[in-house]
Amino acid sequence: MLLASLLTLLLPSLTTAADQTLNPDLNAKLMLAATNVDRQALLPKNEDWIFDFTQQKVYTFAPGSVVNANAATFPTLAGVGMTMAQLNLGPCAMLPPHWHPRATNLVVAVTGNITTWMVGENGVKVVTTELTPGKMTVFPRASLHAMQNNGCDNAQLISALNSDDAGTTNIFNTAFDNIPHEVLAAAFGDDEFDAGTVGKNIPKVGTGSVMGSAECRRRCGI
Ligand SMILES: *[C@@H]1O[C@H](CO)[C@@H](O)[C@H](O)[C@H]1NC(C)=O
Repeated sequence: MLLASLLTLLLPSLTTAADQTLNPDLNAKLMLAATNVDRQALLPKNEDWIFDFTQQKVYTFAPGSVVNANAATFPTLAGVGMTMAQLNLGPCAMLPPHWHPRATNLVVAVTGNITTWMVGENGVKVVTTELTPGKMTVFPRASLHAMQNNGCDNAQLISALNSDDAGTTNIFNTAFDNIPHEVLAAAFGDDEFDAGTVGKNIPKVGTGSVMGSAECRRRCGI
């Protein structure tokens, strides 16, 4: 318990998993610049125009990560209206069900074999795709989606979103952490449903990726 609170204090970005804004002053100035010339004067160095995904704190393949270049992590994108993300999935790693409240998401596989699931809203059927290198799918704005690396090697995808502040809502973390447990039990249609116990093993949002299915882990000997 103490350790958990300590970790929460030390690792706010890993427990809340919202990107921390690197330089709010610069973002404010970029958003207020009267002209593009004024804006570019705020980004004078060539390095201001480079984002190195591999050097970000969340970058990992154990089990995986969503590394976002957006207004928070890369101020040069403030007001640009786009996010580019690198999705790094170790063997069997997955992105658990989530949506982006402010952006449509295009995802293309660079390496690996990844299954994706997308549900647009109540009443439409699930769209399942298998992404191998060069194949892309679409997760429309606010659609529920998840994906899993089927392979026993690392997989990587590139993800583009049409907002520099796309946002992410992980449904299980959000529901179990915020809705009263007796209300969740009713939503599950089972008054005996112990949401506190069932929910306690939901992995933290962390670096954005969690370990995937038991079937894959057995197959890959993980
Ligand atoms: C991708 O993985 C799935 C699930 O393991 C498998 O059925 C499929 O054959 C694989 N596709 C390719 C092109 O290897």
